Amino acid sequence: MPHQSSLLKQQEAKSTAVAHAKVIAPGVPARLGSTPSTTFRGNPAIFGRLVEDHDKHRALLAMIEATSPKDPARKLLFEEFVRDVHGHAAAEEQALWSTIMRNPETTQFARHAVGDHHKIDKLMADAAARDITSPGWLRHFAKLKEEYLDHILEEETEQFVEAEKTLSPPDQRYMRRVFSRRKKAEKAAAEIEKKIALKPT
Ligand SMILES: [Fe+2]
Ligand SMILES: [Fe+2]
Repeated sequence: MPHQSSLLKQQEAKSTAVAHAKVIAPGVPARLGSTPSTTFRGNPAIFGRLVEDHDKHRALLAMIEATSPKDPARKLLFEEFVRDVHGHAAAEEQALWSTIMRNPETTQFARHAVGDHHKIDKLMADAAARDITSPGWLRHFAKLKEEYLDHILEEETEQFVEAEKTLSPPDQRYMRRVFSRRKKAEKAAAEIEKKIALKPT
């Protein structure tokens, strides 16, 4: 039954992604509930790899929210989220969005995704600049969480869908390899920027 096996593959892909987040703080629950459905989850090329990261990020966001202000796990999880998202976004731009941007028919989709990355950078820098051990920190985090979840949902349901139409299967497999290599390098070089956002982003 192809439908069941692909469902199983999707569940496996999600569990693997959540396990990657749990490594950071095994004692913190990752209650991310149901994830938006996408046919890309478990896909062996670039889009499946990107959704795997998105699911890891969904788990990290849920875990951060489950910590109390003084719990050292909150800082560990937040720093992992920022580094992983920096690495993911930069590698996504290099492996995927640069190519999609170059095609006049899909420029707008790439531009939208890259524009979101800038907004998310500002929100991460704002949350990083504030006192993570204070009870009010979650308010700043909530804004970042909302923006990020919106961004990855839009990628999975709009921008990836349009991008996929223009890419051959070998291109998509090649892009996965480029993404993985670049993400490793970008994440290793990522620095946590701290900057209060003066204007609402
Ligand atoms: Fe992404
Ligand atoms: Fe993105």
